[in-house]
Amino acid sequence: MILLEQICKKYHREGQEIDALKDINIQVEQGDIFGVIGYSGAGKSTLVRLVNYLEKPTSGKVVVDGQCLNKLNKHQLRNTRKQIGMIFQNFNLLESKTISQNVAMPLILEKMNKNEMKTRVNELLQFVGLEDKQMSYPNELSGGQKQRVGIARALATNPRILLCDEATSALDPQTTQSILELLKKINKEYNITIMLITHEMQVIQQICNKVAVMEQGEVIEVGSVLDVFGYPEQLTTKKFVQTVISNKIPSSIKRKLKEKSEKNIYKLEMVGNHATKSILHQLIINYQLHLNVIYTNMAEIQETTLAIWYVQIEGEERTKRAAIDFLERQKVRIKEVTIE
Ligand SMILES: Nc1ncnc2c1ncn2[C@@H]1O[C@H](COP(=O)(O)OP(=O)(O)O)[C@@H](O)[C@H]1O
Ligand SMILES: [Mg+2]
Repeated sequence: MILLEQICKKYHREGQEIDALKDINIQVEQGDIFGVIGYSGAGKSTLVRLVNYLEKPTSGKVVVDGQCLNKLNKHQLRNTRKQIGMIFQNFNLLESKTISQNVAMPLILEKMNKNEMKTRVNELLQFVGLEDKQMSYPNELSGGQKQRVGIARALATNPRILLCDEATSALDPQTTQSILELLKKINKEYNITIMLITHEMQVIQQICNKVAVMEQGEVIEVGSVLDVFGYPEQLTTKKFVQTVISNKIPSSIKRKLKEKSEKNIYKLEMVGNHATKSILHQLIINYQLHLNVIYTNMAEIQETTLAIWYVQIEGEERTKRAAIDFLERQKVRIKEVTIE
């Protein structure tokens, strides 16, 4: 488990003080794939580098698996860091070393014996699908392959935690997909907790179970991916969610609604079973309302569905009120919208 408690981090540059992190509180459970999303400069890299104590907080506590890193001496810290692997956007491979040597690096530092090391490196390269690249050099590999080497190296010491700093940001969509699949496999097969930072909501959508949204050094929203995608609160979160599921009525439809001065239009947001259960059908049958679907959008997250519906609900005011109560009881978020 990773616990960040009341973390502040200040940098000083050219006589100016920069608040890179402001009162951060985050809890990552064992087995989570915890995503941190934010625009450039939000503080994501600083945050993730606190977890292996490459950065020290100005104030606040960093606790990893019950151990408070603030209190450790150099030797203890080195041992704890073996539990924490890390991968990077630019892979950080040694260009003059072979793939095997790159992967072996943490094991050499651990002074593992040669035979054992050879077996371990083979095992790791096999796991990431690069067993035929042992004697190659990084510049002979594609971006995706380089990141696989980075992953193999990060796993060499059998860590319990893997930190990923924009690990797929330099890769094309297809390669991103295969690296995300590999991260998922690492999480499932080895029960390794993953903390992943990104500026792409698709990455969060595909593999994370929890997400924190960062803006200007603060965590502005945090929760399960389903909740945050389904019911985003903050403007920045809404903008990120918008990149994977459009939650606005397209302007052409809006124009027509406006021309006809259409009213009684509601936005419905729902996640999980609620999105696929025939809620609208129940509404029509039980409340005898006139229902007109204007626009819908659905996306798959965490093997369930997120749906956004725009509907026009017409009928007696009392019946409508009862229907809205019914929807709210079904955990559907409902809001009347005015077309402008
Ligand atoms: N070593 C540093 N010295 C001074 N300022 C820094 C340093 N590292 C990061 N910053 C500043 O801290 C803020 C957060 O940076 P960073 O954590 O890299 O954000 P992100 O990874 O979200 O892009 C930025 O304003 C950045 O300029
Ligand atoms: Mg960064």
